[in-house]
Amino acid sequence: MSRIAIIGGTGLSELVGLKNIKTEKVDTVYGETSGVIESGLLEGEEVVFLSRHGKPHTIPPHKINYRANLDALHKLNVKKIIAVNAVGGISSDMPPKHIVIPHQIIDYTYGREHTFYDNTSEVELQHVDFSDPYDGDLRFKLISAAKQYDIPFSNSGVYACTQGPRLESSAEVQRLLRDGCDIVGMTGMPEAALARELGIAYASVCIVVNPAAGLSHEPITMTDIHRVLTEGIGNVLTLLKLVISQLN
Ligand code: HPA
Repeated sequence: MSRIAIIGGTGLSELVGLKNIKTEKVDTVYGETSGVIESGLLEGEEVVFLSRHGKPHTIPPHKINYRANLDALHKLNVKKIIAVNAVGGISSDMPPKHIVIPHQIIDYTYGREHTFYDNTSEVELQHVDFSDPYDGDLRFKLISAAKQYDIPFSNSGVYACTQGPRLESSAEVQRLLRDGCDIVGMTGMPEAALARELGIAYASVCIVVNPAAGLSHEPITMTDIHRVLTEGIGNVLTLLKLVISQLN
């Protein structure tokens, strides 16, 4: 049976409401996954859950073993992934707590293991189409659920993926703005591209946790980010529960 996975990000290292939890043990040739993969029932629907930063949150964005995570989910017959990403808001209409279902990505990361095609003696190299990085059908369902639930959200946005773990300089954010980016995070890539290489439908629910660097008069603090997450993650969870019940 094909399965649906949720990859949790900062603020979602545990999928509250997941019942009948079982631990899935998967070996990959890429090394260890971010932690234990769980499966269980969310609102009565079967879901696989993986916390990308580990449980508790200890793995920084540039150290996440994205290939192991995606390979393991693939081995568990996952065909659809909804990723949750905490982001900084660049567009003025994307303030803290706002939810964004992004439609595009620009990748500013470097040095990450970003493809399964690095040993082409074992598999034939494919240059996968990435014109639309996020799966159209999954995005449509997320957007419909967000409309139903009536939360403030944006049905599109360009996600800038930076290397981290430091935040950006103000000038870097101005450059992202000129590049057409609406939100900035550190974990969207190579996750989305690896899912595409494996033929897994992938979409993201982003929650804005701070105005990006230089866009507010206040410094960005982890205390403020955690406060926004505490206040805003409930909407993300409700959206996930709604969409999961409509995916099968
Ligand atoms: N920049 C990059 N990644 C982030 C941010 C940010 O401002 N906020 C949360 N993740």
